Amino acid sequence: MNTSTTYRNYYRQRTADRWRKIPAEHLDPGAIRPFLAGNWKMNLIPRAGVALAARIFDLCRDIKDVDLGFAPPFTGLSTLAGYIQPDFLRREYGIGRNVFLLAQDTFFESKGAFTGEISADMLAAIGVDRVIVGHSDRRSNLGKYFGFSSSVARRLSPEFLMHTLHHLEQSENPNPQVITTLNHLIDEKNSGMLAGLATFLETELTERAGESDDAIRRKVQAALANGLQVILCCGENLEARNDGETFTLLERQITTSLEGVARHAMPEVIIAYEPIWAIGVGAQSAPLEQISEVHDFIRNLLMDLYGEQVAAQVRILYGGNVKPDNIEAVMQLAGVDGALVGGASLNAADFAKIIRFGLPNVV
Ligand code: PGA
Repeated sequence: MNTSTTYRNYYRQRTADRWRKIPAEHLDPGAIRPFLAGNWKMNLIPRAGVALAARIFDLCRDIKDVDLGFAPPFTGLSTLAGYIQPDFLRREYGIGRNVFLLAQDTFFESKGAFTGEISADMLAAIGVDRVIVGHSDRRSNLGKYFGFSSSVARRLSPEFLMHTLHHLEQSENPNPQVITTLNHLIDEKNSGMLAGLATFLETELTERAGESDDAIRRKVQAALANGLQVILCCGENLEARNDGETFTLLERQITTSLEGVARHAMPEVIIAYEPIWAIGVGAQSAPLEQISEVHDFIRNLLMDLYGEQVAAQVRILYGGNVKPDNIEAVMQLAGVDGALVGGASLNAADFAKIIRFGLPNVV
């Protein structure tokens, strides 16, 4: 087994006015180490998660020059937290402080009647280091599953509208504008418009509904306030890319989500650029030029928002079909500081190869 653990040119540093990747032997304290994170999504019971992690560590013995992250489902966090204790990892695998426990989401309120939600301080209390916020699975894929379309259909039915109107008219301070609108919608003459509106809203919500930028902003704040680092996901869908809206959309996602995050807190934020069209089974990773262009755009945006020093410190990851055969090319891009990996992080051999990008393979 070849146990070389020396990475080559994968540390980002700014020289003159350009970002470059520099060799490990020339590392200075300002250089940024790569971060490779596996998002397990809704997979693996706790015991299976530990078995996967153990196999990955075994294949990545003595790795020190990159940071590793694992994001099991909520149910797997405590068990994995117990397993990845630095002393144990150092003794057993020669790795230690460079392994981080990630949660896949958090809620922004700290406690209360929010059945099923998990707060940031609960995550911090069980040893979570970082939390993924704003993943596209949650930003734009929830409508399909949460049945928004049937609730729209019900609310826009003439019977429901009539019933609501009746209640409103009997209430103490009915809003006249709402009453007028409801009367219009109920009017027989407008039944075509009502059906059209229902179809429009059903499609919109089914295809696009999910967490809003504002909810994500609140999650970022809650995580930081509880000492968790944030992996803030952003990325455009295919429609936005084809319409030339990628940068406008990313700017909106990032500026809104970071609103209220002070300069001094920014080193706790990692950004993950994940174009939605490049994620998951059946999709293809984004072309390298597009990854590079977007990462430069995000870095420049961070410079505008927080200045050069902060922009230099923030890691920007790429996610979307990162696999053993493209990780090295992705990591060579000057603006890329790591990867957020979905599918391939569930396979020990593949994720080990991703972690060992640029190193001799052991599997
Ligand atoms: P993928 O997922 O690697 O399976 O494309 C990436 C992600 O959703 O974070």
